[in-house]
Amino acid sequence: MGRKPNDSEPTRYATMILLLMGLVSCTAVYIFMSAVMRPAGSSVVERLAAEEGEFSGGGGGEGEGECCSGIESFELWGAAVKWGSDFKVNSSKECCKACKAMCTGNHGPCLCDTWVFCGNKKFCGDKFGECWLKKQKDTLAPDRQEAGNKVMWTSGIVFGKGEGIVALETEFGAIHVKLLPECSPRSVFNILELLGLRHCAGCQFFRAEIRGQIWDTHGDHIKDASFGPPYALVQGTLDAQGVAFESVPSESCPEIRRGSVAWVGSGPEFFISLANHQEWKKSYTVFGYVLPEDMEIVEKIAQLPTKLDVWSGVNVTVLENPVPLRVRRIKSNNDDLNLSS
Ligand SMILES: *[C@@H]1O[C@H](CO)[C@@H](O)[C@H](O)[C@H]1NC(C)=O
Ligand SMILES: *[C@@H]1O[C@H](CO)[C@@H](O)[C@H](O)[C@H]1NC(C)=O
Repeated sequence: MGRKPNDSEPTRYATMILLLMGLVSCTAVYIFMSAVMRPAGSSVVERLAAEEGEFSGGGGGEGEGECCSGIESFELWGAAVKWGSDFKVNSSKECCKACKAMCTGNHGPCLCDTWVFCGNKKFCGDKFGECWLKKQKDTLAPDRQEAGNKVMWTSGIVFGKGEGIVALETEFGAIHVKLLPECSPRSVFNILELLGLRHCAGCQFFRAEIRGQIWDTHGDHIKDASFGPPYALVQGTLDAQGVAFESVPSESCPEIRRGSVAWVGSGPEFFISLANHQEWKKSYTVFGYVLPEDMEIVEKIAQLPTKLDVWSGVNVTVLENPVPLRVRRIKSNNDDLNLSS
């Protein structure tokens, strides 16, 4: 799969038009979405939490249950629910798992959503092995300590059921994506940054490839079929104009399955898969998955009119009219979850 080649004549004129288009369509999307989302209220959370469970494997695809990783040289603040001075473990993974273990039951927010581990023997001194478990005021805006190079802590976040879900808003509806911070913590922080933006001018889907006769409606590969083209995905970019995108390193990740959301390379281009692409191994960093009910919207985008193009020798189909998108919070923070639990 390729990255969209740069336009050959990125003139000021074209940029202006794009900006204008983005502005107009963002406004349209906003008006449309506020109408659609209004009646949903807090039941949205319940629906989302229920749907998460339906995703085969309990979320994120194979291997997801095993990953529990954080970011080195990075410190998250927050109110302590378990003090590290009294709680030492042997690895960051153990600390992460201890946090996860406090997400009891199937409903409601986790008692712990942040873990901070001191794993650098040289810098930690007698703090070595400390595992602090914390709880954020706002799970989608973790309180980060602006880090230098010498931070001795490794930190990560954990999302319980119904938490860590963002919406990719399009004119066809909101695509709800559950983020996977235990698999790809840096990628998730990149997405959380976008939540603060009022606009996402330039953010759009621009490539759409159907499943064709290659993958069935469950995303399973049909025996003896090729592996594309078409490639069963929609591709877009989260490169918001005026915002520097911090490129993401490759992070250990689950396989690409139907519904997986992954970066193309180190971003900001990304794709949503319509199929289980085992043939791609683990070559893309998956940072979330689309809640099953919303795959309908992704399928709809995949069927929009396209034209042929060739990217680095690969035949691709690009949308005749790109679909603008915006990353948004769902109206469902801890408040609503507390109400429903
Ligand atoms: C951590 O490692 C030490 C020494 O290898 C071992 O004795 C201890 O049981 C381990 N602790 C845990 C919680 O695994
Ligand atoms: C790409 O498209 C061209 C023209 O439609 C076709 O001749 C060629 O076989 C295609 N290549 C592949 C790999 O499908």
